[in-house]
Amino acid sequence: MARVLVSDPIDPAGVEILQQVAHVDVLTGLAPPKLLEIIGQYDALMVRSETKVTSPVIEAGVNLKIIGRAGVGVDNIDVPTATRRGIVVVNSPGGNTIAAAEHTLALMMALARHIPQADQSIRRAEWNRARFLGVELYQKTLGILGLGKIGSHVAKVARALGMQVLAYDPYISAERASQWGAQLVDLDTVIRTADFITLHLPKTPETTRLINRETLLQMKPTTRIINCSRGGIIDEEALYEALKHKQIAGAALDVFAQEPLKESSLRELGMEVILTPHLGASTEEAQANVAIDVAEQIRDVLLGLPAKSAVNIPGLSPDVLQQLKPYLELAEILGALVGQLARGRVDTLEIRLQGVLVEKDIKPLLIAVLKGLLTPALQERVNYVNALIEARERGIHVIETKDSTGQDYMGSLHLEARTGGIEHSISGALLGEGEARITAINGMPINVAPSKWMLLTHHRDMPGIIGRVGSFLGHHNVNIAGMQVGRQVVRGEAVMMVSLDDPLSDEMLKEICTIPGIRDAYVLTL
Ligand code: NAD
Ligand code: MLT
Repeated sequence: MARVLVSDPIDPAGVEILQQVAHVDVLTGLAPPKLLEIIGQYDALMVRSETKVTSPVIEAGVNLKIIGRAGVGVDNIDVPTATRRGIVVVNSPGGNTIAAAEHTLALMMALARHIPQADQSIRRAEWNRARFLGVELYQKTLGILGLGKIGSHVAKVARALGMQVLAYDPYISAERASQWGAQLVDLDTVIRTADFITLHLPKTPETTRLINRETLLQMKPTTRIINCSRGGIIDEEALYEALKHKQIAGAALDVFAQEPLKESSLRELGMEVILTPHLGASTEEAQANVAIDVAEQIRDVLLGLPAKSAVNIPGLSPDVLQQLKPYLELAEILGALVGQLARGRVDTLEIRLQGVLVEKDIKPLLIAVLKGLLTPALQERVNYVNALIEARERGIHVIETKDSTGQDYMGSLHLEARTGGIEHSISGALLGEGEARITAINGMPINVAPSKWMLLTHHRDMPGIIGRVGSFLGHHNVNIAGMQVGRQVVRGEAVMMVSLDDPLSDEMLKEICTIPGIRDAYVLTL
């Protein structure tokens, strides 16, 4: 019989499901050396956020087939090591959405009315009504950063409370946001105008310290911030300073850069701060949802069935995978690139198969495109299993076509992303040895191998422009690995794709845009 280790407290309903197919040991609070010592005996490991499933733990888990995270964030699991070892990692992307949204709303109200502090005061036998004068939410502006599952539920409830809702999310369309009663705006507008700001973002290099000394300085002195997403998105030291000097009015935090929270200046503050120990998902309902969701997936994988929310392993059948693997990789790359060309926001995505691909099932390729397109927004939460659902939920309209007339390459894939009347397109194909190539951008033919960093320019075809870009990059010590230009007519519109060995900063990109003849430039990354 298979053996499962449950190393964090989970709802008993989850344990019962696991017991249908395995011997289950619930051993919580294990010290890391003990976990390393025993993990080799188990086929599956189920955790919440307390157990740190590090690379040594995964390497020692010689029999592990699956790791289940009863929750959303998998930041306590070394997913790349698990993937390398062929271990499936599963989570529960939606099981605690309502719990986290309601905790956010509870913190917002507690912050507005000083409820924890008033409770503490009355327990000290005080009766101080003047000290706890609050503010109303009604007709105030709520700014939501990250309008995903939790953010959109907060938006709907906030509207019902009579709040005006602004949202910043570069990967959501304005139309989708308005369906939840939110007006999509830029980050600056939220920062400068909102009375309450709530964070519902994943922690990524882009979002780390998104709220920092500079952004805090731009907020109104009456602004209150709530963070129920991930610690580290707010710079805690800068927040402490802003609260202490009354640059903003208050903050309620459920998550911290280091958990459990140890030494922290935030504890020294008074009425202006409310702290909870990562309770967003701590409801009976959410704990049962996530435990059942993840236990069912562990049970299925132990029975040889696919998992429905695998973070790292595609849920396609092995045959289809084998046949399509090189095209799936190409599709994911093109999806990522067309998303970057559209600057993240796509209302309609058209996918067109040409050549030999016309004979193939379009679905797996579409899924790979959507996974590439959505990864910057959803990180590891989007996978081959949920990419279609995620795209539908985000209001992306998909058009699938097959064109048996185009025969430039053996099999090629063409994507068009449309947003508010603006269109971007990219095509790609595989060369004889299965090597991926970008074969056209916005209708201009090119032939470039995708690379980690690429500079794309839209410019007028004229003498000297390539030299200027080359000298600029050389001057800034950015090494060029390859370069291609594409145009349809001599001295007309053209594109230049430069593969780079080094990254380009935003400032350099801005300067490139000032070179005469260049209309627009992008840094594309893979
Ligand atoms: P989600 O993936 O549904 O939504 C995240 C949203 O953030 C997406 O719409 C995405 O487009 C947007 N986004 C990504 N990068 C962005 C950026 N740079 N700027 C603006 N928006 C960006 O996720 P969710 O389920 O709503 O969860 C949100 C967060 O809450 C996650 O960090 C999750 O781990 C956390 N969470 C915390 C608790 C808790 O106990 N406190 C419970 C559940 C989830
Ligand atoms: C999550 O990512 O699911 C939440 O942070 C809740 C938890 O860690 O249990």
